[in-house]
Amino acid sequence: RIAGPCGLVIFGVTGDLSRKKLMPAIYDLANRGLLPPGFALTGFARRDWNAEDFGQVVYEAVRKHARTPFRQEVWDRLAEGLRFVQGSFDDDASFDELERTVRELDEKRGTGGNHAFYLSIPPSAFPVVCKQLARSGLSAQEDPDVWRRVVIEKPFGHDLASAKELNAIVNEVFPEDSVFRIDHYLGKETVQNVLALRFANQLFEPIWNANYVDHVQITMAEDIGLGGRAGYYDGIGAARDVIQNHLLQLLAFTAMEEPTSFSSDELRAEKIKVLKAVKLALPLEETSARGQYEGGWQGGEQVPGLKEEEGFNPESTTETFAAITYEVENRRWAGVPFYLRTGKRLGRRVTEIAVVFKRAPHLPFDATMTEELGQNALVIRVQPDEGVTMRFGSKVPGNQMEVRDVTMDFGYGNAFTESSPEAYERLILDVLLGEPSLFPVNEEVERSWEILDPVIEFWADSAEGPDGYPAGSWGPDSSAEMLARTGRHWRRP
Ligand code: BG6
Repeated sequence: RIAGPCGLVIFGVTGDLSRKKLMPAIYDLANRGLLPPGFALTGFARRDWNAEDFGQVVYEAVRKHARTPFRQEVWDRLAEGLRFVQGSFDDDASFDELERTVRELDEKRGTGGNHAFYLSIPPSAFPVVCKQLARSGLSAQEDPDVWRRVVIEKPFGHDLASAKELNAIVNEVFPEDSVFRIDHYLGKETVQNVLALRFANQLFEPIWNANYVDHVQITMAEDIGLGGRAGYYDGIGAARDVIQNHLLQLLAFTAMEEPTSFSSDELRAEKIKVLKAVKLALPLEETSARGQYEGGWQGGEQVPGLKEEEGFNPESTTETFAAITYEVENRRWAGVPFYLRTGKRLGRRVTEIAVVFKRAPHLPFDATMTEELGQNALVIRVQPDEGVTMRFGSKVPGNQMEVRDVTMDFGYGNAFTESSPEAYERLILDVLLGEPSLFPVNEEVERSWEILDPVIEFWADSAEGPDGYPAGSWGPDSSAEMLARTGRHWRRP
């Protein structure tokens, strides 16, 4: 589907996200013919730029980060719709100027009064920007044929209380159906495929429950350190940064019931229902682990530890690794632990969901024949090397019965000729189309905080700080111990 007449305004347009993800995604959408001919992109920032400077920044971002080939005619068309408004969030005049710009676009480029406002700014600035959008009339929703939408980036608060406050502030200006919260993991093909895998097939769903599943492991490992993001990350940490959003969304997709349809209401209703059944496994000293990376060798390179990163307070107890055990208290999942882990500076960059099955109830083999047989597993490889792997035992060729684990593999690269849109491409298009399925609603966000806050409080009150772990490893020993206590171990992705 192609978006109808509209424009997009980005606040915080000088930031990293905007250059690396948003601008290239907009170009890629234009290149695929998915934007309306008169599409307009307006940047709003304090930076002393003129329209030409802004055009140059967008051009460079597109040349550097766009996925699709550069085509001059596509760029030229996009460039005609670029505008820049210089100003600060507390300055009424700048918002009046923005309002005039938007009206001019409606007249000259035919954006039809339809505009999305993308807040790529710290949440502390949401209240003032929302207030300004209301004051200047930019958020007005009076004409039913015209839409105004707001797009917000995480972090959606710091804990449950602040998330509620933030939601209230945004909802005062924009009704919930005009609010699009970005969790870019939901924009990933492989994440959406969890639903196709489960609900379009007969093969998996009958065994997708506590009768057959031993446990689920959800891993999001990154090899990068904090780099220049120490300022943002200090005081936030791995659990708030990605477990509250990305990993709990992956859990919801993995554990939810089949929606009656793929409409956004039905889909979100099922996600909310399962998140309500998600509980922290206790006691937290045994079911959670956290760590901070230390310096070491990674990928043939010597890398600094967290405490040596520029701008990071060496006294900080902010975790760069977190592992948490959840349970899903419903009939389908009773007794099945969901282990979530994430970390920076781990062995390699990989995100996967591993559904690990129980052993066969009976093995009609001598124990020596099955020494190399593990547990069956279905591994959804979210990234990189996108695909799905099934692991099961097979007879080792030879003149005796011996069973060893083998894998069967589906890889996107081999199976499809179509290329996957980048997550932001998909999500920005959905905003412009007004298709809300892939955006978490406030209830999901608040519930996610509710089931994360106790762990963070427990860590904050604990006399011991996070455990150290060497760069390039798979996290602190306490993470391995968390599983070992129940006789399990983490998969090596
Ligand atoms: C972001 C986190 O949401 O996701 C970052 O704030 C993290 O800390 C990033 O690096 C990872 O995204 P991806 O798509 O590269 O897995």
